[in-house]
Amino acid sequence: MRELISKLIVLLTSILIVTLSIIFGFSQNQNKNKIDENNNISSFQKAKTIALDSAKIQKGKELFIKKGCLRCHSIDKQGNSRNPLDGVGKSYNKDILEKLIVGDESIEENIPKRVFKQRYKQLPSNELEALVEYMKSLR
Ligand code: HEC
Repeated sequence: MRELISKLIVLLTSILIVTLSIIFGFSQNQNKNKIDENNNISSFQKAKTIALDSAKIQKGKELFIKKGCLRCHSIDKQGNSRNPLDGVGKSYNKDILEKLIVGDESIEENIPKRVFKQRYKQLPSNELEALVEYMKSLR
């Protein structure tokens, strides 16, 4: 009888250990899910940064109209369809975009000399930045 009881205790103890380790493993998994959630939170914070840039894009959109870019360019079928800028953000980086907007001498082969864009060299740097941001958003 005693032997049976001690065998039973050993059996129950091992069942308990197995159960506990399953529970432990499960709770570790839960923690892992929590970490994933945290990652989502950080990507949400990244999205916020993009939202900040979209204020710049908005400003760039307004400047695009105000500074007369539409006289020579079109975006989304608005403006002069001779030089459409749709998708231009895919083709150039920030540096080149800046030069294209002001018609910098170093990119002469891209913009014919007769095109008078030099006046945009007088744009304040924050306005040029906003225009570039807007160009970058055209994808
Ligand atoms: C007097 C006409 C004129 C005005 C005004 C003008 N551009 Fe341009 N722009 C051109 C021409 C011409 C090109 C070269 C042709 C092309 O590639 O579209 C060009 C090229 C560009 C390009 C490169 C396009 C590409 O695909 O290579 C960008 C970006 C650009 N202009 C932005 C602007 C912005 C922003 C403004 C307003 C601040 C502006 N431009 C005002 C005539 C003009």
